[in-house]
Amino acid sequence: MDKMLEEAVTAIGTPNIALIKYWGKRDPELNLPTNSSISITLDETLNTKTSVLFSDCFKGDRLFINGEAYDLKDTKNEKTAFTAKVLEHMRGLAGTEAGALIVSKNSFPTAGGLASSASGAATLCYAVSEALELRLAPKELSIVARRISGSACRSISGGFVEWRKGSAADGSDSYAESIANEEHWPEVIDIITLIEDKKKKVSSSEGHRRATETSELYQIRPKIADRRVESMEKAIEQRDFEALAEITMKDSNSLHATALDSFPPILYLNDTSKAVIQRIHELNQHEGATIAAYTFDAGPNAQIITLKKHKNKVIDAIGEIISKDRILVVGQGHGPRPLPSSESLLGDMNLL
Ligand code: PMV
Repeated sequence: MDKMLEEAVTAIGTPNIALIKYWGKRDPELNLPTNSSISITLDETLNTKTSVLFSDCFKGDRLFINGEAYDLKDTKNEKTAFTAKVLEHMRGLAGTEAGALIVSKNSFPTAGGLASSASGAATLCYAVSEALELRLAPKELSIVARRISGSACRSISGGFVEWRKGSAADGSDSYAESIANEEHWPEVIDIITLIEDKKKKVSSSEGHRRATETSELYQIRPKIADRRVESMEKAIEQRDFEALAEITMKDSNSLHATALDSFPPILYLNDTSKAVIQRIHELNQHEGATIAAYTFDAGPNAQIITLKKHKNKVIDAIGEIISKDRILVVGQGHGPRPLPSSESLLGDMNLL
């Protein structure tokens, strides 16, 4: 085994928030979407840190997430299943059978509809690729991350990111790329609300499946979403916030309409989420312009897309509904990056 590989790598990565949502898979095994999607990669306010060490001395692989040990043979657990997939794929590329020690930590609640799996999966792919000295390019990393957790493929790049659905049966043309980096329009920010930090009642995997298999309303969604992707590309290019905001709200509403139209229905939004929707429309009406847009993933936590100059107005408006200590202002980020060895999570020798 190459001695170089015995050096631990630590990386940091972040979630993304979809403006045009990925909802429904045409191939659940490969995580191939029925429509293209566009997101903003977020800055490191919310992040995942992951340390990886490969060594021939390790018998098998060990995984710790947020201080808890996971059994990588447990194929029913999403996190262990996806980590095992990444290791198998990357070890194949590197031509090594070395065991891995992986320690990962999220700075925010997992599975609360805040894209912790996207952040975790993108960071893991990047860290493993670096630890094995594969140095995969963003396109290749995005394809690996997509197979783990679809939306994770968008957290590999920075700024505004588009995941083109592709058409190849093997998924080789279904990956995400930055369409405008974080310097193109940094005024756009995300105000995240932590309405609930419990685990999602219905996982996004189940949501994708139930919508495609049972919702008649869903049948028209992929075409509409793909059209919105084109309009969104223009809005981003021209820095047209009103257009971006309107498309964002409509697309979130469309996802939650198809979730409700699934059978049995899925209700990700709670009464507080609905109050936020109302409040944002009132605010825009009062301003006589669309200054803010809400969007919700597979959970009740509202994310409000706005411009820096409107931050206080938006916080005051939603602060009437949600306590201000559960509101976070987040900017745009650049995707995963390495951290110095002083930030390694492998410091606790009990783990080794
Ligand atoms: O990546 P998944 O399978 O967790 O699906 C994510 C789906 C949404 O977050 C609801 C939308 C999106 O595009 O991120």
